[in-house]
Amino acid sequence: MSSVAVTTLSLLVACVLTKTSCQVPTRYCLPNGDVVPDVDALNASYKCAELNPRDYILPRIDPGQVGDTTEIRLVPGRTHRRITTGVLPPLFQVPEFLTPEECAYLIDLAKRHGVAPATMTGKNGTIIKKTGGRTRTGYTSFIRADSDPVLYNIQQRISMLTEMPFDLLEESESFQFGMYPTGGHYHSHYDSSDGQPEDLEKKPCCHQIHLPHTPNRCVLCRYITVLMYLNDVVKGGETAFPLADQLGQSLLEEHIDLSAYCQQSSVVVRPEKGKAIMWYNNIRDPETGWIGPVDRYALHGGCDVIEGQKWISNVWISAPQHNRKYDNSVYAVRWT
Ligand code: OGA
Ligand code: FE2
Repeated sequence: MSSVAVTTLSLLVACVLTKTSCQVPTRYCLPNGDVVPDVDALNASYKCAELNPRDYILPRIDPGQVGDTTEIRLVPGRTHRRITTGVLPPLFQVPEFLTPEECAYLIDLAKRHGVAPATMTGKNGTIIKKTGGRTRTGYTSFIRADSDPVLYNIQQRISMLTEMPFDLLEESESFQFGMYPTGGHYHSHYDSSDGQPEDLEKKPCCHQIHLPHTPNRCVLCRYITVLMYLNDVVKGGETAFPLADQLGQSLLEEHIDLSAYCQQSSVVVRPEKGKAIMWYNNIRDPETGWIGPVDRYALHGGCDVIEGQKWISNVWISAPQHNRKYDNSVYAVRWT
């Protein structure tokens, strides 16, 4: 068999196995599993998403009860544990999601890339500004997953962990790296835009419009956060969720200042090298099955680093609103 035939055959097998289009390495598959050998040969109005009917509802993992542990397969030759840590919002921990080698590699990558002082854009609303002191103290940078083979591999693992289609990951923001020095923190906030549901529906998601991302023009649609701890923090640096599983509890001023409120939060996750945590920032719209308003219980932040440094990486998986599910994402290579 010629090498072209072998390649085509293996692509076809991949298509049939995954039954998805627009996924790497099956992005050239039609929904029926046929391979499109040369994507450029399609006409200019080709959009990968059009080949993908998106006739599913957004995946959402059932958390069960706090403490429930599920064995999951993410990499060959071993299993991981997915431990339910919260139900409202669904919140999970996965110890050793990254190997120590990957953690060291990622910290080095972020250092080489250069981490700059974190900016607080204010797009998370006004509440966080009431804290008086600085909302966030630390350093951040963004690195595209497809710029580095290790990141790309972890992006695929995140797709498996979250059960989210790979094309939604490709349409999401780059990996964000963060470093908090001693004393660094990030007071309570939402990763997605909060606000009135009517307003949210009217505005497009920020990942689907071109810059500038002024808060008035778009809403952040970060359906899931996957936060990975890249080192062990000597003391402090927990991730706190002051409203998690506190049914009916309203948001109080005291929940915001995590320098004061950290340990009183209903869920407090200790940073541990290689551990990932994931949670849903938004509810799934019960009617459309696509992204709905922010889940107010998903309020969270990073507590003071008391001793040492804290390195993290965030992957925010954006999902479109139902009526815009075929719109381009500014992050997808195939549309740029
Ligand atoms: C964030 C965040 C929490 C933490 O970066 O958006 O919430 O523990 N971080 O650093
Ligand atoms: Fe956050």
